[in-house]
Amino acid sequence: MSRRLATEIAGLKLANPTMLAAGILGLTGSSLRSVVEAGAGAVVTKSLGLKPREGYPNPTVVQVDCGLLNAMGLPNPGVRHFGEEIKEVKETGVPVIVSIYAFSSEEFAKAAEVAVGVGADALELNVSCPHVEETGAEIGSDPELVTKVVRKVKNKVDKPVFVKLTPNVANIVEVAKAAVEAGADAITAINTVRAMAIEIETTRPLLANKIGGLSGPAIKPIAVRCVYEIYREVDVPVIGCGGITDWRDAVEFMLAGASAVQIGTAIAFKGLGVFKSVTRGIDAYVGKKGFGSVKDIVGLAQNF
Ligand code: SIN
Repeated sequence: MSRRLATEIAGLKLANPTMLAAGILGLTGSSLRSVVEAGAGAVVTKSLGLKPREGYPNPTVVQVDCGLLNAMGLPNPGVRHFGEEIKEVKETGVPVIVSIYAFSSEEFAKAAEVAVGVGADALELNVSCPHVEETGAEIGSDPELVTKVVRKVKNKVDKPVFVKLTPNVANIVEVAKAAVEAGADAITAINTVRAMAIEIETTRPLLANKIGGLSGPAIKPIAVRCVYEIYREVDVPVIGCGGITDWRDAVEFMLAGASAVQIGTAIAFKGLGVFKSVTRGIDAYVGKKGFGSVKDIVGLAQNF
């Protein structure tokens, strides 16, 4: 792996600026380990809560023309039961970021404490799931609630705290600033875009939950715009997420201001080889442009 690719996000050392996005392959130690073996610089788990949760009935994921539509309903075994899984992937030495969700700021703080107790190297607060009631975007659309959640979590744990934002708001920068002022160490932008699809023969919505979140290439320009707008206003790293499918997408996010990128949906379409092809492509681009480090390209598009 080229030394040009090494980077650091909120104190976490990454061999390259790619991460597994929350939600895909993040529910077992062995699947997380396979992502590390495929070349990811860090991994983010599926969102975990304080209590086990079954999630919605099927269908929970459908393919649409331009990506995936999902509404899983945050199924997970509970963060307490995740210690063994984390241990398995931590043996690789690659940072493990535990995504957590909760229904109140107190519960977020408790889940954060448990996550750190079972080995999280950092936390990613899911205040952006677009369809589960009383959590996710219902919290992440309100800067005051975001402030409360981040403060409570930061008071409880001493690991880096990332906050994953929803694009389903009028002003994402306002929410990012609230998170950073409350102590967030990095911002992840973005979670899925609230969306739906209807099967015209049966006349039924395709997802059991009817409404879900859209990911994949369709949302990339929205995500790039969010990263670009947030980067200018905050002084913590921004992690880009949304439709990254090849190295050109990753470079585009970095030029907008992302210090690292998360890959999720592309794994479903291209397999785990996407991590190697993205990192090789970023490395070649950085070298071709005459830079010594991937950090040198972050935010270059802001100069125009
Ligand atoms: C889900 O579990 O339904 C997705 C979670 C999310 O979009 O944050």
